[in-house]
Amino acid sequence: MTQNTDALLQLAERLAREAGAIQRERYESELEIETKSEAIDLVTEVDRQCEALIVSGIRSERPEDAIIAEEGGSIEREAADWCWIVDPLDGTVNFAHGFPRFCVSIGIEFRGKRQVALVYDPLLDECYRAVRGRGAYLGSRRLRVSRATAVDESLIATGFAYDVHRSDADNLQHFARMLKTARGIRRDGSAALDLCYVAAGRLDAYWEFKLHPWDVAAGFLIVEEAGGVVTDLSGGPAPRSGVEVVASNGAIHDEFLHLLTHGKEVVP
Ligand code: IPD
Ligand code: CA
Ligand code: CA
Repeated sequence: MTQNTDALLQLAERLAREAGAIQRERYESELEIETKSEAIDLVTEVDRQCEALIVSGIRSERPEDAIIAEEGGSIEREAADWCWIVDPLDGTVNFAHGFPRFCVSIGIEFRGKRQVALVYDPLLDECYRAVRGRGAYLGSRRLRVSRATAVDESLIATGFAYDVHRSDADNLQHFARMLKTARGIRRDGSAALDLCYVAAGRLDAYWEFKLHPWDVAAGFLIVEEAGGVVTDLSGGPAPRSGVEVVASNGAIHDEFLHLLTHGKEVVP
C-alpha cells in the first residue's frame, strides 16, 4: 500500500469537523425534514448539506477514490483501491428532535479492508480516530475497551431498525433476553457513537441488526483497534453490510452471544 494513511485521516477529520460545525450551528433550529423508507426514517436538509460537503471535499482531493454515501452521493469506481464510506449525520432522529447525540462517521477501506476510521461528535467536540494496526484514539487518549468480565456487570446498547413498526424481526426478543441479565441497556440512536463508546469503555457491548455499511464502517475499526471484537450472531466475522452487528470488549463476547441467542432461564 503506497498511500499515506495519515493524509487520509487528516482529510477525513477536516471534512468531518466542517460538517460537524454545520450540525452544531443548525442544532435545535427550524429544519426541513422529509421521510425515506418509513415514516420514522428521516432525512433533514442538514444531512444532505453535510454529505454534499464531504463528498465534494473527497472528490477534489481524491478524484480516483470510490465513495459510498448514505444520502445518494455515492460514486462507483470499479477499479478504485480506496473507498470512502460516509454517514454524514448518524443519529438523524436525535438531531431532528434536539436530542444531543449524533455524529459524522467516515470509514476508509483499501481493497475492501478497513484501514482508516473517523467519527466526530460535534456537540462534545469528541473526535475518534483509528488506523489499522496503529490503535484507536479519542483526541490524544489511546482507547482501550472495558475490563468487564460478565454481562451482569455490563452496560450494553442496542438499536431498532426503521421497519420496527411492521417487521416481526424487530430485535424485541433479543432485547428482552438481554434486559434480564445486563446491568443496564441504552438505546441512544447513533450506531457509530455506540461502537465508539464500546471502544472507549463507556459501554461494554452493543448489538443491532439491519444497519448499513455507513453506520459501521468507521466504528468497526475503532472497536477492533481498541482491543474489542465485532462479529455476527454466530461469532463469525461481522458482515461489512452492517446487517448483523455484535460488538464487545472481547472478554464478555461468548456469554453475550449466548444470551442474545438463547437467553437465560428466568426463575419466577
Ligand atoms: C441510524 C442510527 C440509529 C440506528 C439506525 C440507523 P441514521 O442511522 O445509527 O442508532 O438504530 O438503525 O439507521 O439514519 O440516523 O443515519
Ligand atoms: Ca446512520
Ligand atoms: Ca445518516
